[in-house]
Amino acid sequence: MHSLFNLSGKTFLVTGASSGIGRQCAITISECGGKLIISGRNSERLNETFAKLSGDGHQRVIADLTTDESIEKLADELPQLNGLVHCAGITAPIPVRFIRSRHIDDMMRINYHAPVLLTTRILSKKKLINNSSIVFFSTIATKFPYYGGSIYISSKSALSGFSMVLALELAPKGIRSNCLLPGFVRTPMYEATEQHASPEAMKKFEMLHPLGIGNPEDVAGPVCFLLSDAARWITGINIPLGGSL
Ligand SMILES: NC(=O)c1ccc[n+]([C@@H]2O[C@H](COP(=O)([O-])OP(=O)(O)OC[C@H]3O[C@@H](n4cnc5c(N)ncnc54)[C@H](OP(=O)(O)O)[C@@H]3O)[C@@H](O)[C@H]2O)c1
Repeated sequence: MHSLFNLSGKTFLVTGASSGIGRQCAITISECGGKLIISGRNSERLNETFAKLSGDGHQRVIADLTTDESIEKLADELPQLNGLVHCAGITAPIPVRFIRSRHIDDMMRINYHAPVLLTTRILSKKKLINNSSIVFFSTIATKFPYYGGSIYISSKSALSGFSMVLALELAPKGIRSNCLLPGFVRTPMYEATEQHASPEAMKKFEMLHPLGIGNPEDVAGPVCFLLSDAARWITGINIPLGGSL
């Protein structure tokens, strides 16, 4: 492997590592030589991810990231890091006329507050070394909205905005912040969407993906690139994945 892409000697936190995209990101980062701290709520599924990691020296931390206390505790437990991959997130379709404040609170709490506050706590505790890389997850749905997606899309749009400002503020330290906007990726989240949406709606979504629906491996590659020195001149951008048109 070219040294620019090599993650050896570097340590990364991946949240949402007990499932889907986060799990595959952790596995691929470990295959590229990186050390991991993986986090999730479900210990059984987090252990399954842990067992699939290459190399040794990895750690796992069970954490529900919906409270300030748990975010503070996770940040305290972390070693010095070379990067963060914020995969933890939820979605739930709800038509606008049914929205109540608890729906907004629940979605924003994990999709926006958690990655924002975890990043700020890690920065305050000086756990992110210079020239690190931060990767956030938004969605291509911020460009191609769908019926019932208003709160999810709002939460992810807010995160994209945060990532751009963070990139500006951290540039003097060489720390980069970028946001990925995947199209549909086959994970438990995708399967849950399949159950709610009609076959016609799913077909319509699929048509927006000229390269077809993605797999977690299709996302993990770009994540490793963004974490690597090969991406050292890339910051503050929102990158669509899936060739969505
Ligand atoms: N799949 C797609 O089509 C797609 C497309 C665009 C963007 N994304 C984004 O990509 C990210 C990963 O999605 P995915 O498809 O991999 O979803 P997933 O398979 O449902 O996994 C979600 C992960 O988030 C964790 N999580 C949820 N609530 C949490 C909480 N309160 N505290 C801590 N962790 C929590 C889950 O942990 P537990 O399982 O342990 O509860 C799980 O590890 C999300 O941010 C999603 O919005 C996904």
